[in-house]
Amino acid sequence: MYDGDIASVLISEQQIKDKVTELAKQVDEDYQDVGGDLLLVGVLKGAVMFMTDFARALPQPAQLEFMAVSSYGSSTSSSGVVRILKDLDRDIANRHVLIVEDIIDSGLTLSWLLKNLSSRNPASLEVCTLLRKPDAVQVDLPVKYVGFDIPNEFVVGYGLDYAERYRDLPYIGSLDPKVYTSGV
Ligand code: PRP
Ligand code: MN
Ligand code: MG
Repeated sequence: MYDGDIASVLISEQQIKDKVTELAKQVDEDYQDVGGDLLLVGVLKGAVMFMTDFARALPQPAQLEFMAVSSYGSSTSSSGVVRILKDLDRDIANRHVLIVEDIIDSGLTLSWLLKNLSSRNPASLEVCTLLRKPDAVQVDLPVKYVGFDIPNEFVVGYGLDYAERYRDLPYIGSLDPKVYTSGV
């Protein structure tokens, strides 16, 4: 699949699986007191694979909501402009909300999301991201759960896209620069 476009596998399917289980366990322990009132907010479209695997790995019940925001378009660097493509369709006031993201790159999307969601007065608001890039530390974000800190390469797969492609890869790989320098 996508032969030749992936320069190398950064995180294998098994490594993702193990990490998802580990994160789900941690979250389960931290939310024991909440008594099944956890609300996962998945950020479409990137987080879709992580969200569904994470929810199934979580030992306690949780409700699933989705929001769609976009900052990238089809460029490989973040524009900082965040648009709501789909808002939550329920009130999150007094709910224990856990944002589920695939990646924090510049941190701009998440920083915007945290502001936006906290203004809706949730009982608590935390973040669980599968991946985080080094640039993200330039924005001081309270991210409680991080799967992998990864190098500053353009990565795709397991929900992450380049120009809407590669989301369906079961692993995370770094995209061969030829893909985004050839003008395709
Ligand atoms: C990607 C990714 C994160 C965000 C991270 O989403 O899924 O949501 O960018 O980048 P940042 O930290 O620099 O803001 P994108 O906007 O590409 O939309 P998508 O999830 O639909 O691919
Ligand atoms: Mn996204
Ligand atoms: Mg994207």
